[in-house]
Amino acid sequence: MQQKKLWLLACSVTLLAIACSSSKKNNPGGTIPSLKGVYKKDFTIGTALNSTQIEEKDPQAALLIPQQFNTATPENIMKAEIIHPQWDVYNFDMADKMVAYCAKNNMLVNAHTLIWHSQLPPFVRQIQSVDSFRTFFTNHIKTVAGRYDGKVYSWDVVNEALNEDGTLRKSVFSQKLGDDFVTEAFRLAQAAAPNTHLYYNDYNNEQPAKRAGCIALIKKIQAAGVRIDGVGIQGHWHLGKLPLKEIEESIEQYAALGIKVMITELDIEVLPRNFQGADVNQRMKADPTMDPYKNGLPDSIQQKLADDYRSLFKLFLKHKDKIARVTFWGVNDGQSWLNGWPVPGRTNYPLLFDRNFKPKPAFDAVIAIGKKQ
Ligand code: G3I
Repeated sequence: MQQKKLWLLACSVTLLAIACSSSKKNNPGGTIPSLKGVYKKDFTIGTALNSTQIEEKDPQAALLIPQQFNTATPENIMKAEIIHPQWDVYNFDMADKMVAYCAKNNMLVNAHTLIWHSQLPPFVRQIQSVDSFRTFFTNHIKTVAGRYDGKVYSWDVVNEALNEDGTLRKSVFSQKLGDDFVTEAFRLAQAAAPNTHLYYNDYNNEQPAKRAGCIALIKKIQAAGVRIDGVGIQGHWHLGKLPLKEIEESIEQYAALGIKVMITELDIEVLPRNFQGADVNQRMKADPTMDPYKNGLPDSIQQKLADDYRSLFKLFLKHKDKIARVTFWGVNDGQSWLNGWPVPGRTNYPLLFDRNFKPKPAFDAVIAIGKKQ
């Protein structure tokens, strides 16, 4: 009898050890809570993924990503220059890997992006005739959106088509196809991807003038009888300068159009910058004053970042009935695009995880406000 008791005790200890080690495997921090878990009843939580992460070449990222996020956006690999490098050449390799990675890890894919004036393959700008350009436009949307219908959850169909004053940006698309190209892109996407949510995505579209242009654009698509399911506010904001009032008004006004609102590329810039937004053509000169935290982020700034993230998520929670997803633009600070733009080679700290994947005070703040509701 005594022997049987001892044997049962040994079995329980072994089972407990196995359970602990497997939970550690899915939780590199051991005890850190997950963003996706805390916000599971509110909205999905996403990150942007690069090739290294999709191919699971970084073991720490491979552990952290599925533990924290339930949706992902490809940071670059579904953009035209990569997925459609030549007129009749498509390169689906990495995009297929992304879809498989997300399926394996129970993550939804927000595909990014079908029509954008930036990161286009060189051949596009060499197309002379309007007819050929229209053929490229149609083929691109049909082929790429068609291939991933049913495999991705949503597409950023058109990205950054607006100027800051709300007018349509002069781009290769508007110049070749006229102002209706946005509606046409959604019409083609709707036909090619009937099972995929279709979004318009931009930065600074919480600002009144650009927001008005964005609302007009969405109404135009709707008036044409074409489907648009949501709008992405990218959310490239600045420390201590969150436009909370404008964000709230925008969430309300976009939702009133009968569509979902997403925060699609969230990060908070802590370094000096003399303009707002994410126009990749804008640059600034490097000088030492522009890179003040090379050796680490002072506690006071760390705390301000936590305060800003807390205010943002408080607002998102207030409008959780209108918000479908909040996506961070990257997993950790070391991998953020903001280390290289608008000044190359800076040391930036815009996200919730530090360069060693350690949760920052900003992470704790986001978790705490999510748990408190
Ligand atoms: O792939 C090449 C590599 O072969 C080359 O050696 C290297 C040298 O610089 O460049 C690599 O390409 C870089 C690419 O990212 C992939 O890493 C480009 O230079 C670089 O410009 C590009 O930056 C991306 C940027 O979009 C380009 O427009 C950022 O990673 C990406 O985060 C950023 O994402 C955009 C969203 O799509 C739309 N909203 C704004 C957001 C931030 O700019």
